[in-house]
Amino acid sequence: MDKLLLIDDEVDVQYSFRRIFDSPDLELHTASSGEEGLKLIPQVRPDLVITDIRMAGINGLETLRRIRQADPKLPVILMTAYGTTQTAIEAMKLGAFDYLLKPFDVPRLKQLVGDALKASRDMRQTVAVAPQLEQQDYDLGVIGRSHPMQSVFKLIGQVAGTDATVLITGESGTGKELVARAIYHNSRRHQQAFLAINCAAIPENLLESELFGHEKGAFTGASQQRIGKFEQCHGGTLFLDEIGDMSSTTQTKILRVLQSGSFERVGGNAPIRVDVRIIAATNKPLEDAVANRQFREDLFYRLNVVRIQMPPLRERRDDIRLLVDYFLRKLAGAGIPKAINTSAIAALEAYHWPGNVRELENVIRRATVVAKGPSLLISDLPSEVTVAVQKAVSTPVASPAPDAAVVAAPVESTGAHRSEPTSIPEVAQWLFRFARADSKLRVLPAVERELIIQALKETSGNQVQAAKLLGITRATLRKRVEKFSIRRELNVA
Ligand SMILES: Nc1ncnc2c1ncn2[C@@H]1O[C@H](COP(=O)(O)OP(=O)(O)OP(=O)(O)O)[C@@H](O)[C@H]1O
Ligand SMILES: [Mg+2]
Repeated sequence: MDKLLLIDDEVDVQYSFRRIFDSPDLELHTASSGEEGLKLIPQVRPDLVITDIRMAGINGLETLRRIRQADPKLPVILMTAYGTTQTAIEAMKLGAFDYLLKPFDVPRLKQLVGDALKASRDMRQTVAVAPQLEQQDYDLGVIGRSHPMQSVFKLIGQVAGTDATVLITGESGTGKELVARAIYHNSRRHQQAFLAINCAAIPENLLESELFGHEKGAFTGASQQRIGKFEQCHGGTLFLDEIGDMSSTTQTKILRVLQSGSFERVGGNAPIRVDVRIIAATNKPLEDAVANRQFREDLFYRLNVVRIQMPPLRERRDDIRLLVDYFLRKLAGAGIPKAINTSAIAALEAYHWPGNVRELENVIRRATVVAKGPSLLISDLPSEVTVAVQKAVSTPVASPAPDAAVVAAPVESTGAHRSEPTSIPEVAQWLFRFARADSKLRVLPAVERELIIQALKETSGNQVQAAKLLGITRATLRKRVEKFSIRRELNVA
């Protein structure tokens, strides 16, 4: 549960906050003065502080200064009446998360509180690199033992202690943001701020001013000076997510900060020096964007000093079991299964995971909700997972070779996600997963029997056609039908 501390001497404001934030996920604490608020912080350990600026005793700005000194990772939002916005801007320079004008706009207040709580979690939840599952002293872990993940861990270890710029690339849901946070938590800047900014979520014309701030009157609507993330994050780490979606002006400015450590606010001409470490991420192939002249080549090389390429989950299936155990442990609670049975694991290991680890996490979360027993079963998994697996086991694979080649070619050449094996050796590899997951399964007889059943079903029981489909004689088919007592089975079905 998140904890919010409100510091305001007006009873009305305290009352509105109680109404607005009446939620089981949020614990609201209130203080009526800066002194009282500062005293409460070590007791309550809030995730976010919202303070008024004008108060009797020590004012909001001084309260902010003292909080920043004691804990630079606790986000503070200032509230101010219109006439005092200059003070609020000063507060931003001191590292306030943001400010709000009174009387406040409730949706904006909620949005800001949501953003600040996310930033607070990013800074507080420690992310361990390759933890042992039994280890207790971390909140989140970058889980994996496969070879591609070992390389990722090695790179994190090499860059975490430096101030090098890091570029993290990979498909959606592969853990780019998690790795960025792991680098931060293991870096020498871990006591300072970490701010994440999603470049794709902010309209292009606003992104530049969000990052670098603007001067009053810089453009229509710029009625006040604004302090950008680079200034706010001085001394800390800035995570530029989805960096592939950035206009060329913003790219130029980023390049300059990387080269010289300084920039100007939009509409300003005084250079501002900052000390910020940059971690960038994107799921777009930046090399292509460079080739198409959508992304500056010089910026690309500046960012690409250290490159961490996240492997897709389907290329590290050995990690699936470990990830499932980790997610079950994280979800642990009354009525939540603690285990998973072998055929469910086999199904998860066979699926192609277009949404990567995020998709796996969602599948496990949903499965724990529908599960009735102490273990997750294959029936608790969503149909997209189980259908892919049934196909893998039951699709007749003895199709003529030319067809197989036609099917395989486009899949291979586009490098698209493969949901099904495209050659017999691959089918064998898939089947071995089931064998490894279930020590009682005798894979060869099980497959032979299933092929015969499916061939007969496919041909509505016509043995001549079924035998042809299977590439055996009718006599052999008949013997196998006897051997595996298949007729009885088919009649029942
Ligand atoms: N190796 C891992 N171990 C544990 N959890 C992971 C791992 N990789 C990803 N996750 C979890 O999967 C989810 C998605 O990860 P994250 O947000 O870092 O992906 P992303 O690559 O940034 O995706 P997108 O490109 O869609 O933004 C998160 O909940 C994250 O904690
Ligand atoms: Mg991300």
